[in-house]
Amino acid sequence: MSGRIDVLVLDDEAAVASAAAGLFAELIRRKPNAVLGLATGSTPEPISAEMVHLYRDTGLSFAKARAFNLDEYLGLDGDHDQSYRFFMQKRLFDSIDIRAWNTFIFDGTALDPEQECRAYEAKIRAVGGVDLWLLGIGGNGHIAFNEPGSDPASRARVVTPDEETVKANSRHFADPSAVPTRAMTAGVGTILDARQIVLVATGAHKADAVAQALEGPRSSDCPASLLQEHPDCTFLLDSAAASQLC
Ligand code: F6R
Repeated sequence: MSGRIDVLVLDDEAAVASAAAGLFAELIRRKPNAVLGLATGSTPEPISAEMVHLYRDTGLSFAKARAFNLDEYLGLDGDHDQSYRFFMQKRLFDSIDIRAWNTFIFDGTALDPEQECRAYEAKIRAVGGVDLWLLGIGGNGHIAFNEPGSDPASRARVVTPDEETVKANSRHFADPSAVPTRAMTAGVGTILDARQIVLVATGAHKADAVAQALEGPRSSDCPASLLQEHPDCTFLLDSAAASQLC
């Protein structure tokens, strides 16, 4: 498998959100029971808002779609306001017609997290694989919670996010020391299996990671650079995130 990443540089965050949501809309119109791969974090927030707009104002229906999320903190219940399940319910799922039983996010309180990860992979296989996976990128080039050093063939597993990631994510927590130090994540291999991938990045703080991913060597040192081997991957960037590209 080999590919070339398509890059689209757009004016601002709103244009990136609209383009990303547009890709999902196009997919769902073509394939109503599509399997969506979703992400949390600040970058996808306006994308979720745009999807809600498409549902409310253009009749786009998610009723037959299935959705998998990239990751979840270990130890947080889905009702915890910093869990990724909570984020998805509030930002997207509660505002569209997707069926609850078609949304798959790791259970942060699973008694056997490794088994939870195996079950996640099995569910993805059972629905025929992910059609389109939305990704953000960390300042260190991580995708999902696949930190530098992650195996390109890695599958869903329990991980310990880097200190830098824990620190970056602490901005969302009232008590910064309460950020869980372990998580469950889709692996790099899980992500690369998707038929299509779209990575979104906005803001100058992402510019270095974006340049490494696109113009650096394909290496686990920058997990997002491993996307270079995917046959259908697009980066949607605002001009600030693209500012360090040659
Ligand atoms: C979230 C995720 C993370 C984020 C990344 C960027 O589900 O998988 O890899 O995409 O940390 O986060 P933001 O968008 O908050 O800068």
